[in-house]
Amino acid sequence: ADIPVICIDGPTASGKGTLAAAVAARLGYHVLDSGALYRVVGLAAERAGLATDEAALADPAHAERVGALAAQLPVRFADGRIWLGDDDVTDAVRSEAAGMAASRVSALPAVRAGLLALQRGFRRLPGLVADGRDMGTVIFPDAPLKVFLTASAATRAQRRYEQLISRGETASIDSLLADLEARDARDRTRAVAPLEPAQDAQLLDNSAQTIDASVATVLAWWQRCR
Ligand code: C5P
Repeated sequence: ADIPVICIDGPTASGKGTLAAAVAARLGYHVLDSGALYRVVGLAAERAGLATDEAALADPAHAERVGALAAQLPVRFADGRIWLGDDDVTDAVRSEAAGMAASRVSALPAVRAGLLALQRGFRRLPGLVADGRDMGTVIFPDAPLKVFLTASAATRAQRRYEQLISRGETASIDSLLADLEARDARDRTRAVAPLEPAQDAQLLDNSAQTIDASVATVLAWWQRCR
């Protein structure tokens, strides 16, 4: 527990991943993109023939099977790529559909419990920057610095839109906005590990802030906690 960890939690497309990667690069720390784990669980379930729609997941036996899959997830992060077994799933997990499936499976207690040890295992020297929804509240409650990152829904939809377009995908702002609001509503209201700031979290709204400014803010907070 003496290994330093910085938690960055917040809603969909708030820029957590970009901020976490930049802060980690500056400090020479490891990164944990916990959302990617839930995305990989959704994909792994579908590939194993386990449905991830809400009706299917409502069956406790089915939920247990998805949870068992999460507990044995053959996932690997290497050189910016994400592997599920021998398959490079980096692009597959980034789709909007994968994000929605992740949000549905992540509401299952068995899935969250199944991923707990895996996530804590990322805490290695010299330190870790972890991004997600419950890094500060559940996974690393003793973290000396917890940031809760927000941005307006319009800003987040716009950023997500630009990301998809730059990857050559098609997208519509209106449907992205509807998707992210649905995802946030589910993440905020679920019974286990809902999206909410830890009591000791620093709030950071980056709607009108450059990434460099957000990085500088977090690094300044980090200096103060050391
Ligand atoms: O952050 P990202 O959009 O990749 O996360 C995908 C989904 O995984 C989120 O909508 C959320 O439901 C879930 N998630 C979670 N806990 C985390 C990270 C992600 O429940 N720590």
